[in-house]
Amino acid sequence: MAKPLVKRILLPFALLVLFYTAFRNTPVVPQPSAQYPNLFGEHQEPLHVPINRPFVNKSHTWDHWDAVDVFPTNVESKPVELEIPNQDSKTVRVSTPLILTVPQNSQRSIPQALLGQLECPRAPNRFTNHIRLPNLLYNISMSPRSAVSREERTFWNPTIFALPYWAKNQYIVVSMVTPDGEALRRNVLCEANICHPKSAAPRLAHERPCSEDDLDLLGPNGGLRCVTAPIEVTVPPTPAAKCEGREQVFADIPGFHDPRIFYSGRGEPILILSSQSQYACIGLWAIDLRAVYPDLEGTMASSPKRLGPGPVMSYPTLTELTRSPPSSRRSYEKNWVMFSPSSSSSYLQYELTSSRRTIAQLIGGGLTTPNITDPLEEPCLQDPTMEEIAGSHYNENSAWHQATPSLKLILCSRSNLTCNPEIADTVFFAIIQRKNVNILGLPVRYERYVVVWSAAPPFNMLAVSRHPILMANETTSSWTAEESWDDVPEALLENRPLWGRITYTTTIAYAWGREEKDVREKGTGHLDDDVILSIGVDDEGQAYARVKVSELLQCMRVCPGREQVNLDESED
Ligand SMILES: *[C@@H]1O[C@H](CO)[C@@H](O)[C@H](O)[C@H]1NC(C)=O
Ligand SMILES: *[C@@H]1O[C@H](CO)[C@@H](O)[C@H](O)[C@H]1NC(C)=O
Ligand SMILES: *[C@@H]1O[C@H](CO)[C@@H](O)[C@H](O)[C@H]1NC(C)=O
Ligand SMILES: *[C@@H]1O[C@H](CO)[C@@H](O)[C@H](O)[C@H]1NC(C)=O
Ligand SMILES: *[C@@H]1O[C@H](CO)[C@@H](O)[C@H](O)[C@H]1NC(C)=O
Repeated sequence: MAKPLVKRILLPFALLVLFYTAFRNTPVVPQPSAQYPNLFGEHQEPLHVPINRPFVNKSHTWDHWDAVDVFPTNVESKPVELEIPNQDSKTVRVSTPLILTVPQNSQRSIPQALLGQLECPRAPNRFTNHIRLPNLLYNISMSPRSAVSREERTFWNPTIFALPYWAKNQYIVVSMVTPDGEALRRNVLCEANICHPKSAAPRLAHERPCSEDDLDLLGPNGGLRCVTAPIEVTVPPTPAAKCEGREQVFADIPGFHDPRIFYSGRGEPILILSSQSQYACIGLWAIDLRAVYPDLEGTMASSPKRLGPGPVMSYPTLTELTRSPPSSRRSYEKNWVMFSPSSSSSYLQYELTSSRRTIAQLIGGGLTTPNITDPLEEPCLQDPTMEEIAGSHYNENSAWHQATPSLKLILCSRSNLTCNPEIADTVFFAIIQRKNVNILGLPVRYERYVVVWSAAPPFNMLAVSRHPILMANETTSSWTAEESWDDVPEALLENRPLWGRITYTTTIAYAWGREEKDVREKGTGHLDDDVILSIGVDDEGQAYARVKVSELLQCMRVCPGREQVNLDESED
């Protein structure tokens, strides 16, 4: 079917104008090309799998393991009637246990163990205000050892997912293939391992030495390399209900984007992605990674310490996540973060900014309760100050975005024999980014911060990094190389140039190699566990960092309204 000529001409321009709104979190976009218009409207296929599941009574679907559910004690469970949007965006009424919070004075204070995380290891860079960690960024190669020829494509937006310690390989990497003039967004998956040069003293007994070939591909410090050939991640296309005005161009772009993989509270490997929405234009969808990559099923079910199949799937098919009431949803949704306080309850944190936070409980089939955010909570994030805006590095369009999935953290060390996970305080943490844009609204810099919130309802925000965080060999845009390296004397002496225009963090995961009892522990860790940060570099690169939790969560600021202690804040 021929398209009106005017549409063919206008689309590339519309894409140019619009790309930064669509890819706020991933500053890289396919280049508009002459092929684009031909693809619109003609690649839309009907759904292959049902994309919405009927509402299920959660108490019937707990996994068959002898799970003793540890639910925080200060909650009261009471059935309520909820208005839930069904497949046709009409409303059905269901009755569900809703967690009601009982205000408690103790929640005004922050856990004692978090107080140890307020001190800063060093002064921030005096120009850029960053705190630099001593951890390097390592390279990632998608060329498997077995391959005959090297991988020539370029990749970005890695999401690194740690397999259980008994798996044959250490990680699963999903990366987006940098589009080369085509509209289809391709994501590939491989199993991968980390290697270190033989000369580097092995920090952990199970770390693997690099071969010559590895060092050739990854550089002198080693890194993460595919073991299996990258295979395309296919999920069914989803239709957009309605993309209007400036969003019209998104209606038919094939493929998904912003994949994130993490463990749910009962150890399910969940893949969340952005794709066309059955309620509006773009939405978030969840599917169990085992349904996409069946090889994982056997791994999940073969824990040496627990017999039986892996965790029951909450998302066996692609399921759209929703907001309640439906009128509160936006046409283009993105960056939602899931967290699981127990093995049977999960929540979505839709947004977290300097003025707004919205949380709801997932009640099955992607449906949620209305907003349960504590109305008494004061915002914890801050926008640039007048002084910062008066300088040349910030403007009033800076915005906070959730970036990575969240991890649960027991606030003591695994190596500490008096640390009892049953009674220690527990929190969630995630990485968020302050996106800074130029006057055209195009991203110039993503600043990396850690946020920490309570694992007990109402999940109050507890702390945030005082300063944005840089890794050892990373620089930040909009300052000169000298300014960026001001806190690294050797780099200054070598006249080290800037490295990486825009780096953004897509995922955090507890590193491979801990001896978990079963997969339900994969999303939970201790202060002395290591975390892998997946990092996208400009429009053509990917890297990762490995950081101990207690080092990532240092130099924190306590959120307003939480009880403060008298700490010396003079380094600000
Ligand atoms: C859910 O299942 C439990 C246990 O079988 C039952 O007591 C409860 O009434 C059910 N709730 C609904 C809404 O069906
Ligand atoms: C930092 O690490 C990345 C990823 O390994 C690498 O590509 C880059 O060259 C390094 N930067 C510097 C300044 O050494
Ligand atoms: C990553 O690879 C680049 C060359 O491609 C190399 O210069 C850099 O040193 C490597 N990074 C590390 C941390 O080894
Ligand atoms: C959710 O509730 C919080 C606290 O009352 C409020 O600040 C926030 O704006 C609400 N979110 C939405 C989308 O209404
Ligand atoms: C060990 O854990 C206990 C309880 O969590 C804590 O009070 C103590 O300070 C910890 N010891 C060390 C050396 O971190």
